[in-house]
Amino acid sequence: MSIRHFLQFRDIDRAEYAYLFDRTRWIKHKFKSYERYWPLEDRTLVMIFEKQSTRTRLSFEAGMHQLGGAAIYLNTRDSQLGRGEPVEDAAQVISRMSDLVMIRTFEQEIIERFAANSRVPVINGLTNEYHPCQILADIYTYIEHRGPITGKTVCWIGDSNNVCNTWLQAAEVLDFNVHVSTPPGYEVEPERANLYGTDNYEEFADPMEAAKGADLVTTDVWTSMGFEAENEARRKAFEDWQVDAEMMRVARDDALFLHCLPAHRGEEVAAEVIDGPHSVVWDEAENRLHAQKALMEFLLLGKVKT
Ligand code: CP
Ligand code: NVA
Repeated sequence: MSIRHFLQFRDIDRAEYAYLFDRTRWIKHKFKSYERYWPLEDRTLVMIFEKQSTRTRLSFEAGMHQLGGAAIYLNTRDSQLGRGEPVEDAAQVISRMSDLVMIRTFEQEIIERFAANSRVPVINGLTNEYHPCQILADIYTYIEHRGPITGKTVCWIGDSNNVCNTWLQAAEVLDFNVHVSTPPGYEVEPERANLYGTDNYEEFADPMEAAKGADLVTTDVWTSMGFEAENEARRKAFEDWQVDAEMMRVARDDALFLHCLPAHRGEEVAAEVIDGPHSVVWDEAENRLHAQKALMEFLLLGKVKT
């Protein structure tokens, strides 16, 4: 079997996502039933973090253990990566000692170079450009609560960051629409998002217009990791781009609210929304575990019959 990487959302096709979402449901059920399922016994996942994390580390590490394998955590500070060892050399070595690698880093180019020199599948655990594992779990969460996402409208409020770019790619792969509203100067960059076209999204100057009739409303921090120097400027530019109760009122009555977390109540989201009736953010966070277990199994074993 040739090596499959998951570096951006479109590395997996629509039929494979249908399989993965079914598989996630099955794996989640197994976990909830306290039934042992060890398809990755004796396999080792290496996790490389060049940025901080709670959910991503926990979900991959716990997930690998629950599938019968082992997970090893490396960060820049404690490894030779922080002392300038070429990423190509690190990839050669790490992939000879493991079965699967997950990387959280800065530029997408770094993970592409790693994957090009890796003997084993590489998973993007967040780059400046994309966060595909997040959207895998987010879409599973939507499906779990509301059914298929095809043809639905997702509203993105705030920064056109890694999470936004991934929603835009996902809309092309799974055929739904995204209404995007960003402050001036922070608009979507289609090339950075690596989109095929502009058919699956529409930009709105007014965030309230973007939210009208949406099936799902989502947002993220105003300042992503690595962009902290822009914090003050962004705080001013984004102040009208908070998802609040008024915004949720113009979305569909049954609209869901998602946030990849960590969240800043009073900035990108009002407490009454993230802690309110539309919000499914805790299910969303938990589903990182189940969806990534399905992903790891798929990358290592292909489609599995149950
Ligand atoms: N959503 C997410 O990736 O969270 P962490 O930064 O805690 O991993
Ligand atoms: N856009 C955020 C997501 C964190 C999970 C960041 O990159 O910091």
